[in-house]
Amino acid sequence: MSIAKSNYNLFDQLNEAAAYLRKHTDFKPKTGLILGTGLGGLVEELDLHMKWDYQQVPHFPTSTVEGHAGALLMGHLAGEPVIVLSGRFHYYEGYSAQELTFPTRLLCHLGIERLLISNVAGSTNRQYRAGDVVIVKDHINMHPDNPLRGHNDERIGVRFPDLLHAYDLKLQELASSAMLKMKMPAHHGVYVGLQGPNLETPAEYRMIKIIGGDLVGMSTVQEVLVANHMNTPVLVTSLVSNECHDPDNLTETTLEEVLEVARRGGAKMHALWMEILTTFAEA
Ligand code: HPA
Repeated sequence: MSIAKSNYNLFDQLNEAAAYLRKHTDFKPKTGLILGTGLGGLVEELDLHMKWDYQQVPHFPTSTVEGHAGALLMGHLAGEPVIVLSGRFHYYEGYSAQELTFPTRLLCHLGIERLLISNVAGSTNRQYRAGDVVIVKDHINMHPDNPLRGHNDERIGVRFPDLLHAYDLKLQELASSAMLKMKMPAHHGVYVGLQGPNLETPAEYRMIKIIGGDLVGMSTVQEVLVANHMNTPVLVTSLVSNECHDPDNLTETTLEEVLEVARRGGAKMHALWMEILTTFAEA
């Protein structure tokens, strides 16, 4: 039996994608952003330098959903030079963990100094209210696939990355200070990553709570893994879209509800990220 060879040339692919971008610009982004549901509006505030549709960038996964193509953008946000993934790929869409993390890897390969990731999540912590923003301090990976599985190229990262500080402490502190300054409750929580696309059963929400989870969602974990593999410090903020802390009294969660909370709460997360980016720009 031979092992999967699909990522033998990952390093070459990253170089090809980077060379493609550099053909158009020598812009040097310092902070990478992955915009989840609710944060799309940040793009409108971007002092845009360059924009590519995902399908233009070599080796990006091709989107299966029309109208959800996604864009890679460079520019200044709150004065900070950023590179933005607007639109992300999810495991539940059918991509492998390796495929869906290629865009994240490209950002790290380009030499960003830090990566900011957002998502929406269900909450199993009774302190959190729908619309709250939570700083992720740790995760539990319950995905059936891992982007680091298979041949490891030491030019990209080590075989066995240590995850003691998967969520950078300094970035968490910076986010806490910004939240306190903005009079937002600075929650810190553990994110449990599941594959979805279904939401959880009451018994599953109970399990998530018992194993130490405060938040549950279907993204982020794989992106955090590859960023750590490539030694890029990560900050993740989650927007609570639904409260699931009482599995005996759950109400149905609809996509409309999630999107409505994301729309309302997104404004808070948006303001928080602008504040954090201002700090980077002034440093
Ligand atoms: N479970 C999983 N993913 C989610 C949820 C949830 O309750 N809410 C938003 N994304």
